[in-house]
Amino acid sequence: MKITGTVKQLQEFIKESHLAPVGFVPTMGALHEGHLSLVRNATGKCPIVVVSIYVNPTQFNDKNDLGNYPRTLEADLILLKSVLRKNDLVFTPSDEEIYPEPDKRIFHFGNLDNVMEALHRPGHFNGVAQVVSRLFDIVRPDIAFFGLKDFQQVAVIRDLIRQLGYKIKIVGNPIVRESDGLAMSSRNRLLEPEIRKSAPVIFKTISAASSMLKDHEISQIKKFVIDNIEKIKGFGVEYFEIADDVNLIPVRLGKEMKKERHYQGCIAVKAGRIRLIDNIEFPLQ
Ligand code: PAJ
Repeated sequence: MKITGTVKQLQEFIKESHLAPVGFVPTMGALHEGHLSLVRNATGKCPIVVVSIYVNPTQFNDKNDLGNYPRTLEADLILLKSVLRKNDLVFTPSDEEIYPEPDKRIFHFGNLDNVMEALHRPGHFNGVAQVVSRLFDIVRPDIAFFGLKDFQQVAVIRDLIRQLGYKIKIVGNPIVRESDGLAMSSRNRLLEPEIRKSAPVIFKTISAASSMLKDHEISQIKKFVIDNIEKIKGFGVEYFEIADDVNLIPVRLGKEMKKERHYQGCIAVKAGRIRLIDNIEFPLQ
């Protein structure tokens, strides 16, 4: 694999390779198996793959979260070396390469701006849209790979592509979990040991809830999820919603659910000082 921090050299490497389609996996580093599953999927489909590692300041609504975000470049490069090939590229840009001028663009994503992550992290998706569109302009990929752990992010990226007219195919990858069920996340390494031990409660609870639709109302399911998680010291549910997979509109009553749609139970939890998200399909019986 080749590593570069500059836009100019990255574009030269891609051009000189004469390889296509170009696959792209954007990340913020502190890599784990979840990220690597995206990279493996990309190398399986594309003869050249670009992995970017850039902690994007504009998507952090909480400056403490930005300051504490794990940065483990050396370990990341070792992991990437085990999955990338000779012509694949790792892009590690500085802030100046990504934002030569401050990015003042404001994006609108309709209903996606008014639910779940957007409500609880104001400005977050605007920052994601800024950096992802900038990275798309730099890398000019044919296929980009995103994790379904960030379910709403994938919907936002699909809408961004539609709005800006990019011809980029988006592939959504399933969630990779620890053996105890906790969704892998760069932030997991920041969990205090006691909190980490209890953290599988999140996936256990939404898994149990996902089969409750047949004999429970949405309000009962929500109460079950919140009570079951919040009975553990240090855990607080920010939101739990069952939303359709197109507009991500949270459902209030079971009778609103449509057979032709898929539904996802999406949750954000404060586990000690760290915020975790997860989701699972809620099949209609
Ligand atoms: P980051 O959190 O580093 O995630 C990079 C990609 O890995 C995202 O598409 C995310 O959904 C995926 N991912 C993370 N954990 C995963 C897991 N357990 N299973 C499957 N996929 C997982 O998401 C971002 O960075 C940023 O917002 C970014 C898109 C890079 C823009 O800055």
